Amino acid sequence: MKRITLAKPDDWHLHLRDGALMGDVVGMSARQMGRAIIMPNLLPPVTEAKQAVAYRKKIIESLPKRSSFNPLMTLYLTDNTTKKNIIDASNEKHVFAAKLYPAGATTNSDSGVTNLKNVYPIIEQMQKEGLPLLIHGEVINNLVDVFDREKVFIETILGDILRSFPELKVVLEHITTKDAVDFVSKSKENVAATITPHHLLSNRNHMFLGGIKPHYYCLPVLKRKVPHQEALIKAATSGSSKFFLGTDSAPHDKGQKESACGCAGIFSANAAIELYAEAFDRAAKIDKLEGFAAHFGADFYGLPRNTETITLEKNPWTVPDNYDFSSSKVIPFFAGESLSWRVLY
Ligand code: NCD
Ligand code: ZN
Repeated sequence: MKRITLAKPDDWHLHLRDGALMGDVVGMSARQMGRAIIMPNLLPPVTEAKQAVAYRKKIIESLPKRSSFNPLMTLYLTDNTTKKNIIDASNEKHVFAAKLYPAGATTNSDSGVTNLKNVYPIIEQMQKEGLPLLIHGEVINNLVDVFDREKVFIETILGDILRSFPELKVVLEHITTKDAVDFVSKSKENVAATITPHHLLSNRNHMFLGGIKPHYYCLPVLKRKVPHQEALIKAATSGSSKFFLGTDSAPHDKGQKESACGCAGIFSANAAIELYAEAFDRAAKIDKLEGFAAHFGADFYGLPRNTETITLEKNPWTVPDNYDFSSSKVIPFFAGESLSWRVLY
């Protein structure tokens, strides 16, 4: 049986939620990942360093015994974020970035920024402090088609941010288009992107063919296979240090997804590295998995690479149909489907 050993990966974009659900899912990430950038879109959002520290404490308390998982916290930018919030965040050793959600862009983003120019003084402070800006890159304009929102964001907003703040570290999160791949590839080294397992393994046909499949619905929404999914696979497996692992694992209760107005978010923390291994293996690029999963993100954030390792074995298994958690029932990505690689614990 074939085995590969990698430095322990990190997840540079993870939703752990709060309360019982957090307790249900955090152990899954902690088994596979050394660290994770924890998204701040709770209700209410994490807008200040002291809230981030309190949230981190709860995460740590929910971890399995002896886990060395390190949650890297983020702030949620709003129209009311102050320069002092940014200074406090930069002085807090557990806060690693601030997240920009355009208001209304996605799940729990109602407190997000309504006009980017409102937060330019804040972004300037982030540039000064060296605090990375993590961007949900979609415009929120009902005149813009949902499949074009990332491309239009890049064309109309991202370019201006980068020109205005040339030293700012920026991660374009969960990219979904060839446009984003091309933009990030051409940008300077202070601009990088995360790519999810579901955008590598699926496209919009998975969501619509044979019936509407709410468990494939996330934001930014899945795009076409050609050219978008193919461009993402090429970027992730290219060995370019600008692209790294960020699952965007976002658990929601089954009932909230299977609904007349189902919410966005795909849960993948249960099999994150196996899903990426599947995508890399299908592209005949399994040798490029370690850089993407364990090196490039740490290098971008200026953090040491993990010294622990994980081993994957080629030994097909079936992803569970669902997880009956204490608080809710969650359907994982690839439910009931087979994956080729499996982590040896
Ligand atoms: C995320 C969530 O559920 O919190 N949903 C999603 O579709 N990705 C929010 C986000 O990252 O956009
Ligand atoms: Zn997310």
